[in-house]
Amino acid sequence: MDNFLHITATWLHILGIALFVGPQFFLAFAWIPASRRIKDLQTRVDAMRTITRRFGVIGGIGLALLLVSGTYQISTWRDYYGVPAEDDFTGIRYGLIFVIKMSALIVMVALVAYHTFVLGPKQLNMLEEQAKGGDVLDDEIRGARVQSMIVSIVALIITLAIMGMGVSMGATDRFSLAPV
Ligand code: HEM
Repeated sequence: MDNFLHITATWLHILGIALFVGPQFFLAFAWIPASRRIKDLQTRVDAMRTITRRFGVIGGIGLALLLVSGTYQISTWRDYYGVPAEDDFTGIRYGLIFVIKMSALIVMVALVAYHTFVLGPKQLNMLEEQAKGGDVLDDEIRGARVQSMIVSIVALIITLAIMGMGVSMGATDRFSLAPV
């Protein structure tokens, strides 16, 4: 039963990664360049709102799956791998990498939230204002776009690093002593 639950949690973890990371690549490298070809600004803004809202839901489900399955894995790892309680958590590589992974996760979630709830809507509102003939300069829109691109690329790089750390937690030397 423990094995079944561990496999299920790992499967959910990987599904979570696919749902959270996949759309980020799609948005950055497929949708954003393609959307610039939509000449009518209001149509572009409407399509952007729909796509980014759906991305928010899909990515949010992915992140929730990661949190639930990861919490299960970390709360059962000692029993599952038969690691004695005397082994200090951060004294072994598995624990040390986990702590670094969780610290990186906090930074990444903060950046994604800032992008989703502040920078993204700000950019869309500016574009919408311009579409309605409002007094918004192209330079202002460009500035907001650059800011939003930098934050989302940094968040994506941290996410890829977190994936690397997760995989390292499964490496054969995971229960060796951590470097001091
Ligand atoms: C609260 C959040 C998270 C927790 C508690 C958590 C916990 C864990 C644990 C304990 C493992 C090791 C499982 C084992 O013993 O083999 C693991 C593996 C992994 N994690 Fe996470 N994780 C979290 C979030 C994430 C995120 C956000 C990502 C990347 C987007 C990620 C990517 C991975 C990967 C790629 C693996 C290796 C999967 C495998 O092939 O076994 N994790 N995670």
